[in-house]
Amino acid sequence: MGFPIYRPRRTRAGENLRAMIRETSLSVKDLIYPLFVVPGSNIKNEISSLPGNYHWSVDRVLEPVGEAVKLGIPAVLLFGLPSYKDAVGSSGWDDNEPVQQACRLIKQQYPELVLITDVCLCEYTDHGHCGVLENCTVNNDATLPFMAKVALSHARAGADIVAPSNMMDGYVQAIRKCLDENDYPHVAIMAYSAKYASAFYGPFRAAADSAPAAGDRKGYQMDPANSDEALRETALDIEEGADIIMVKPALAFLDVVRRHRETFNRPLCVYNVSGEYAMVKAAAEKGWIDEKRIVMEIMTAFKRAGAKMIITYHSLDVARWLREQ
Ligand code: PBG
Repeated sequence: MGFPIYRPRRTRAGENLRAMIRETSLSVKDLIYPLFVVPGSNIKNEISSLPGNYHWSVDRVLEPVGEAVKLGIPAVLLFGLPSYKDAVGSSGWDDNEPVQQACRLIKQQYPELVLITDVCLCEYTDHGHCGVLENCTVNNDATLPFMAKVALSHARAGADIVAPSNMMDGYVQAIRKCLDENDYPHVAIMAYSAKYASAFYGPFRAAADSAPAAGDRKGYQMDPANSDEALRETALDIEEGADIIMVKPALAFLDVVRRHRETFNRPLCVYNVSGEYAMVKAAAEKGWIDEKRIVMEIMTAFKRAGAKMIITYHSLDVARWLREQ
């Protein structure tokens, strides 16, 4: 049936009518707010590559967390900068480092807030790779026990969900087994299942001081040219026990998000990464775009593509804008 019988503009006539036929909705409950905790005290330093986001010392981390809670955001994702680094990343499973301290404090203050931690080694190794090195490459199987140690330490500190992000084969299984054996069967795993070797992580690596000293991550993260492979990666994570799956980055990979939505029956998360955020902030600062409208359009696109959850540095702004609407 074509024009003039069907006129799509009829159902666009006013805001109420448009709201009635709207297919996608965005809620504050979709948001996950990432935070960076650092050693020291009384620190709130803006991260230059992520304007509006800060390095927080543990004694001040309840400020942004409290703000998120007040706005109705259901979850935070913690990243840590450690007080020391070594070849295997042992500060990653040190119960007295910033992430673990922050977990205990946040859990005590806001028991209902969903506390998620990034489980990786790149912030904690002196070479900046996401696992242990052998002949200049990351040794997969030698890395797995260390990932399990980091996850266990976070669980002990109160994490509700651990999010392993280093793309080692078998990492979900290794973590699940370790958590179960240590009486943390209720701690969930959000796997960075389809994580690409992307240039969009640049601003994050400056923020987390986690850029590899030599080489790149192409030996473990995925080639942006592939999407069939992403489905194989995610299928493997689900088999190993992933409770929530993720596609990362988000914006340039919405086709992969859609394929995940159609293929898997698991809650699907997207990570709106640092480079995506930084591009929007830079263009907004120049006055070239309308930041609010651009950000809301991007969030809506994630939902339309099939994501259920969105990790985004825009979380506080989005939550405020949703309130205004
Ligand atoms: C740790 C990790 C990275 C990001 C999240 N977890 C960096 C990387 O893989 O190099 C990137 C997040 C972002 O860019 O916002 N491996």
